Amino acid sequence: MPKVHITTDNLTLDVEKGYPLIDMCDEYDTSILFGCRDGACGACMVRVLEGAENLSKMDENERDFLETMAAQENERLACQCRVFDDVTLEVSE
Ligand code: FES
Repeated sequence: MPKVHITTDNLTLDVEKGYPLIDMCDEYDTSILFGCRDGACGACMVRVLEGAENLSKMDENERDFLETMAAQENERLACQCRVFDDVTLEVSE
């Protein structure tokens, strides 16, 4: 079962393979915040410290949005990510 470690919260959660990060955050008390929940506001931006390859691939809309935000290479929108294996995240500032 994949593990999601959120360093910002010092929290590690087990999730089903393919589980949406946004649903995990709805179920547990994490520091990852959500606004639009649709890849359009940037509120949910996280930095992927380890296991980037274990998240769902970035689609064109997310890539375009992150480029517009001048995001770092390891940043993702949590509302657009599913978890397929272990990953370590921190909340982007
Ligand atoms: S909640 Fe708005 S981009 Fe993820």
